[in-house]
Amino acid sequence: MPSKKEYPVSQQHWDGVYSRNKSDSVSWFQQQASMSLALMQRSKQLKTSRVIDVGAGASVLADSLLAAGVCDLTLVDLADSALATTKLRLGDRAQQVRWLTGDILQLPLPNAGYDVWHDRAVFHFMTSAAQRNAYLAQLQQALVPGGLLVIGTFASDGPEKCSGLPVCRYDEQTLTQQFANGFKALSIDYETHVTPSGNTQSFIWGCFKKTIQLTTPE
Ligand SMILES: C[S@@+](CC[C@H](N)C(=O)[O-])C[C@H]1O[C@@H](n2cnc3c(N)ncnc32)[C@H](O)[C@@H]1O
Repeated sequence: MPSKKEYPVSQQHWDGVYSRNKSDSVSWFQQQASMSLALMQRSKQLKTSRVIDVGAGASVLADSLLAAGVCDLTLVDLADSALATTKLRLGDRAQQVRWLTGDILQLPLPNAGYDVWHDRAVFHFMTSAAQRNAYLAQLQQALVPGGLLVIGTFASDGPEKCSGLPVCRYDEQTLTQQFANGFKALSIDYETHVTPSGNTQSFIWGCFKKTIQLTTPE
């Protein structure tokens, strides 16, 4: 295991956040992942879908998906401490989950290995074109053609930072534009998230269907 010093800065940041704070006190905490669940139900057979939650953190979405009968669930996060919280909470049910600690921009993911890709409040941290391109390449490679992308980011009137880090904010046009290549927009929704301290944050949610498998030129 690498020493803390060898960890990338972002991994140190996120591991520290979840080690120092209770998971229900961070600004993105929600008691129920209602919007995520409602949008993911668009996958015709969610129970039998291969689902990946990217930057899952310590979210209770996993609990709800398992309760809904999803039996192929992968949770990815940079922060081991976040996944450890979820593992502890799930108890025996943790065995039903595939756990991946690492950077979603770099982790090897199975080719067309997922039917549903979920991301709440992770893509908005991709503030450079290089990061967004790397994210899109991973998404393109790992989501099966016909698969569903459910993504929630800060909206254009949302906060400029999250967890002290700068974010990109999106409106309908700019979010749709991000996934214009190879995805069809199914819906755009807005949500006001109330943080544990009572502040509000505007989110935008996009639901997209993957239409084609892009190939990398040789
Ligand atoms: C704002 S939190 C949202 C957590 C969770 N999706 C939720 O809704 O509760 C962002 C999460 O993304 C994770 N994260 C940030 N950058 C990441 C990356 N490049 N690869 C994997 N996880 C990442 C962080 O560790 C953190 O858990």
